[in-house]
Amino acid sequence: MSASDRCLLIVWWSVTGGSLALAEAACQAAQHSGECRVRMLAAPRTQSSDLLEADGYLFVMPEMLGSMAGQMKDLFDRSYYDLLGKIEGRPYALIVCAGSDGTGAVRQLERIVTGWRLRRVADARIVCTHAQTPEAIAAPQSDRAAGPAGGSRDGQSPGHGAGHGSVVSRPRRRFRPARPFAE
Ligand SMILES: Cc1cc2nc3c(=O)[nH]c(=O)nc-3n(C[C@H](O)[C@H](O)[C@H](O)COP(=O)(O)O)c2cc1C
Repeated sequence: MSASDRCLLIVWWSVTGGSLALAEAACQAAQHSGECRVRMLAAPRTQSSDLLEADGYLFVMPEMLGSMAGQMKDLFDRSYYDLLGKIEGRPYALIVCAGSDGTGAVRQLERIVTGWRLRRVADARIVCTHAQTPEAIAAPQSDRAAGPAGGSRDGQSPGHGAGHGSVVSRPRRRFRPARPFAE
């Protein structure tokens, strides 16, 4: 199989646009590299067959309430047993868009794909938007996460042009919901 026959599947989910901007930046970078074909699919539209047909994966999603976003979790719920034992050793990477933390989503996804025996080819990237208030969190996040210019704090952007948000390996603070959950 030649390099250009290989297919990278970018599975993304986004509510306010931050993760989508990161996924698009990564998609452009992968296409620019010419090393593979790239397919981008929103998590709710992704089926086990799409994952089976791809040669490697990039998952891009927000952290919500300390976990991966529900729509991405739903994809794993729908496809986990369909693919168990069928995609072992395939490469994957992960980008999480988060207000201030992101580690819960990373842990959760990495644990799930360990069951599939996927091979992590890069450390998970967490892009923090630093949106803290309900208003800032509800606002569009694409500029905060991956604007057209600017560099990430450690210079390791996930793709060309990405990087208004801080790309961090460790969060600066734990995420605390603005209001405690009702009993
Ligand atoms: C309901 C809700 C829960 C959230 N939970 C977390 C969280 O646990 N940790 C965190 O760092 N950010 C959290 N955030 C912030 C989002 O991760 C952040 O706004 C991110 O940019 C959303 O990605 P998106 O723009 O791709 O939708 C939460 C946002 C919402 C709306």
